Amino acid sequence: MKIVIIGAGNVGTALAVLLQRAGHQIVGLTCRTPASAAAAAAHVQAPYGTDPLQFTPHADLVFITTPDRFIGDICAQIAEAKGFKQGTVVVHTSGAHSSALLKEAIPLGAFPLSFHPLQTFADPLAGVKNLPGSYITIEGHEQALDVGRRLVKDLQCRLLEIPTESKPLYHCAAVIACNYFTAVIDAALQTMEVAGIKRHEALPALYPLIEGTFKNIAKSGTTDALTGPVARGDVGTVEKHLAALSAKIPHLLPLYSALGQVAVDIAARKETLDALGQQQLLKLFGEEIK
Ligand SMILES: NC(=O)c1ccc[n+]([C@@H]2O[C@H](COP(=O)([O-])OP(=O)(O)OC[C@H]3O[C@@H](n4cnc5c(N)ncnc54)[C@H](OP(=O)(O)O)[C@@H]3O)[C@@H](O)[C@H]2O)c1
Repeated sequence: MKIVIIGAGNVGTALAVLLQRAGHQIVGLTCRTPASAAAAAAHVQAPYGTDPLQFTPHADLVFITTPDRFIGDICAQIAEAKGFKQGTVVVHTSGAHSSALLKEAIPLGAFPLSFHPLQTFADPLAGVKNLPGSYITIEGHEQALDVGRRLVKDLQCRLLEIPTESKPLYHCAAVIACNYFTAVIDAALQTMEVAGIKRHEALPALYPLIEGTFKNIAKSGTTDALTGPVARGDVGTVEKHLAALSAKIPHLLPLYSALGQVAVDIAARKETLDALGQQQLLKLFGEEIK
């Protein structure tokens, strides 16, 4: 297929590289600034610019991989200028938004698709390395879904299809697993720092623990993987944590307590925490989250 990428940043550039490797032709890349467009184009030796209309009329597939807030307007501007040919599949990669964001392309005979890689793209080359083997979630116009399924295969990824209305909650789950996981690790590092252990020592010290937890979750799921004072019902240990946080880093009390409540649910499911323990811990955590 002839593919155009509008907004060739981390995701757009990685997709351009991988789709070119799969045999597709990148017929144009655009960014807001010429320098970004040139940098992205250097990865695939493709034509580039800042005006999508220079390329979109010749495309079978148009990816709009700008930040979410620009996708709808960019699609509408191209549609207004009649810049999609009939049968073009117009795609965005936002996790939270559905293909409805691209509805302005439909009157021209183009077909909208949302195509969300369930992977993190810290930079284009990390994306190229990490994407194969990941899941890609698609949803959209009936005529576009077949193209989406084929692209998932071409990228050597795995397919997840979801109903349009599920996108916000689906993306919420991805944000909790990825971005908020990063935030949780940062909170652990902040706590280490206040305990007198510097960040550059704390991260390598915590990393084997993090990795061991990942392995346990991958092997047997979150219920079996939960260990620690909540799973054991050591209420006094949790009280010590709350007192220390309250004295030294009170801004982390709500986070500790909210995650503690989720851990109580898991421990109840695991049947290692009795009803009294659950009640005592939920009372302690509840007092910290007003
Ligand atoms: N990063 C991730 O881990 C990830 C994962 C899955 C899905 N996504 C989704 O993928 C999409 C892109 O995210 P990203 O992280 O790749 O973004 P990004 O690295 O910030 O890249 C955004 C690109 O869009 C261009 N751009 C910004 N405003 C524009 C405009 N008004 N017109 C044309 N181009 C414009 C930027 O060009 P300039 O550099 O010239 O400003 C840049 O090339 C988003 O919908 C996001 O939700 C991201």
